[in-house]
Amino acid sequence: MTYRPARDHRRRRFAAHIAALIVLCSACLSAPAFASARIAISCSSLGVEAELCRTGAQAWAKETGNEISLVATPPNADERFSLYLTLLASHSGDVDILQIDVTWPGMLANHLVGLAPLIPESERSDHLPVLIENNTVAGKLIALPFFVDVGLLYYRKDLLEKYNRPTPQTWRELTRTATEILQRERDAGARDLQGYVFQGKAYEGLACNGLEWIASFGGGFLDENGRSIATSDANVAALTLAKSWIGTIAPRGALSYSEEETRAAFQSGKAIFMRNWPYAWALANAKDSPIAGKVGVAALPQGDGANARRATTLGGQQLAVSRYSAHPKEAADLVRYLTSAAEQKRRALKGSFNPTRRSLYHDRELIAANPLYGDFPSILDSAVARPSTIAGRRYNKASYAIIQALHDALGGQGSISDNLTSLDDELRRISHDGAWN
Ligand code: GLC
Repeated sequence: MTYRPARDHRRRRFAAHIAALIVLCSACLSAPAFASARIAISCSSLGVEAELCRTGAQAWAKETGNEISLVATPPNADERFSLYLTLLASHSGDVDILQIDVTWPGMLANHLVGLAPLIPESERSDHLPVLIENNTVAGKLIALPFFVDVGLLYYRKDLLEKYNRPTPQTWRELTRTATEILQRERDAGARDLQGYVFQGKAYEGLACNGLEWIASFGGGFLDENGRSIATSDANVAALTLAKSWIGTIAPRGALSYSEEETRAAFQSGKAIFMRNWPYAWALANAKDSPIAGKVGVAALPQGDGANARRATTLGGQQLAVSRYSAHPKEAADLVRYLTSAAEQKRRALKGSFNPTRRSLYHDRELIAANPLYGDFPSILDSAVARPSTIAGRRYNKASYAIIQALHDALGGQGSISDNLTSLDDELRRISHDGAWN
């Protein structure tokens, strides 16, 4: 008798467990993988980026029964970074997914969710290892690669053919070819034609262009131990050539060009050569583009001197989940979807956003659609990274100093060697003399 109440109690508990299981199981049969959530995603708006991001996210929402909202951001990388910092510093849950630049992991890692437990290994292993490594901070994978950027040389095929000039292999050859064609075209009435347009505004895009010039001459900003090598002869030679473009083959206005101003000049037929990222290919060849079919694209030229090489800045974007998101699982699932092979292929075909998945560089349809994809693995071999891994949280300060020096050099504010000496002082100060700790 004394044991009966306890047995009854156990029986009742057992029945309650079974009933709960039945309720749970019928719920798992009828409900989607997770309850419906509203995920706010913030993409960049360079070219058609925002549009492709929206259509991709909407397709995921339809498939999963969730909702999405798009958070508008400026196309300029620096302005987007400031916006994200403000949101994250206030632990705002307003944005679940952020599109982060390849240089930001070290600066934002503390605000981002570790994705490895939320996204299966099979979805991660196809990405270029250099990007996975870049996005892993203190052992935590904080973002999945979305697309990879490299600086490219766009040129007017028709004009090079008209003057029987080959695609320039060196920056000097580009300077000569642009000067010659420009003179002849201007004499023939094309008064507003320019020779070369690039991103010369004082923002991150200039740091990318500058790195390409100096690395192609065998120079750099930091050595492999993080110490400044800003005053090297190669840097002086590269910047001397770049400065000579301003007011000759490049307009003075290039000192305030970011990607879109550069593309507007080239796409409206007002420039012979342009430096830009891969996204410009699809737009320059779009039906409504005045230069569709007249555009060639190649690796950037190399510099001069014994250590001359081809160099292109490694750029690109990643998708990360905010630590302050109320729906990290659903957000991670949207990241998985947007970085999947099918979605990256769609984006490559529609917007020439370069996939980060190695398998797609063997995809025949992609190679046929874009001449770049066959050559892309070799272009990627010449990619140089900005010093964001070594600078970590201080990358912004280092990049600001680099941009300032480059802009002063191009604009003739002081001599190039003075500009580089000031940069050297700044990099030593910011890095605690190369220790970066
Ligand atoms: C592109 C690149 C990015 C770079 C930025 C500079 O968005 O993907 O890496 O920092 O341009 O403007």
